[in-house]
Amino acid sequence: TQSVSEVARVKNLNKIQMGKHEVDTWYFSPYPIEYTHVECLYICEMCLGYFPSNFMLKRHRQKCTVTHPPGNEIYRHEDVSFFEIDGRRQKVWCRNLCLLSKCFLDHKTLYYDTDPFLFYVMAQRDDAGAHIIGYFSKEKESAENYNVACILTLPQHQRTGFGRLLIEFSYELSKREHKLGSPEKPLSDLGLLSYRAYWAETIVEMLLHTEEDISIEDIANKTAIVHADVLHTCQALNMLKQYQGKHYLVLNDQVLAKHDRQMKKKRRRIHPEALHWQPPK
Ligand code: ACO
Ligand code: ZN
Repeated sequence: TQSVSEVARVKNLNKIQMGKHEVDTWYFSPYPIEYTHVECLYICEMCLGYFPSNFMLKRHRQKCTVTHPPGNEIYRHEDVSFFEIDGRRQKVWCRNLCLLSKCFLDHKTLYYDTDPFLFYVMAQRDDAGAHIIGYFSKEKESAENYNVACILTLPQHQRTGFGRLLIEFSYELSKREHKLGSPEKPLSDLGLLSYRAYWAETIVEMLLHTEEDISIEDIANKTAIVHADVLHTCQALNMLKQYQGKHYLVLNDQVLAKHDRQMKKKRRRIHPEALHWQPPK
């Protein structure tokens, strides 16, 4: 865990370069000090190793044999794959991932002891290999039934629907576990926006595709979204109506119009049949 002084530390890196992307960092990340006072940190997009110069990265790339994230490929659909990685078995790779993601995550403690976590890494495949787009971590045992600890889309890939895909995947795992899940709190602003959008879309879609009356409870059980998140979403969308002492879920024009606009974007979706996974025992 982090010390207080570490939390308060100011941003120590300006830029990172990964593959063909150069991005500005957002927050402090505890890379070793000798790497942080450089103009730009060069990161191998396959093993996530880091280098203080482009020259050193290039020299590394000639030797680096890694072409995809470690662990098991548990999902493959079109060019998107998910890898399940045990933080205890792949310590170096997972620690490097945490260092990288800390550059864009600020609001909560990030655990540098990776042992208690599984990492679900989403990658896009091409001729050169499987390139990391984003990931989420998940506690092996969560007392609060959190199904996501930290979630990140690398900045160079944000706002193109990949975050939604990560979130959808996390709930697909919960369905296989026969559990309801919720992300770890607190959420960042971006995290909250993305989850709200996902919850709203999922609930509205469920209502549109069900003929009979459906309760908050039914929606929770079918989507693996915990009751509280379903309820808050329905309240926020003004869909909770009372009539003669009974509660009903009612779609309104505003919600339907928004849903229509979202669906027109034709974003990638998770295809459950492409997930080959059993809950770890
Ligand atoms: N402004 C407004 N709405 C947004 C924004 C934004 N910058 N980003 C996401 N949204 C909302 C939108 O409704 C969006 O749908 P739209 O594009 O159709 O309008 C929806 O979220 C989904 O967007 P995606 O493109 O699927 O999400 P993205 O790939 O950008 O990933 C994520 C979202 C993971 C939160 C990303 O912003 C990120 O990595 N942020 C930095 C790290 C972070 O804050 N993670 C969450 C911490 S909380 C936790 O870990 C449990
Ligand atoms: Zn490498």
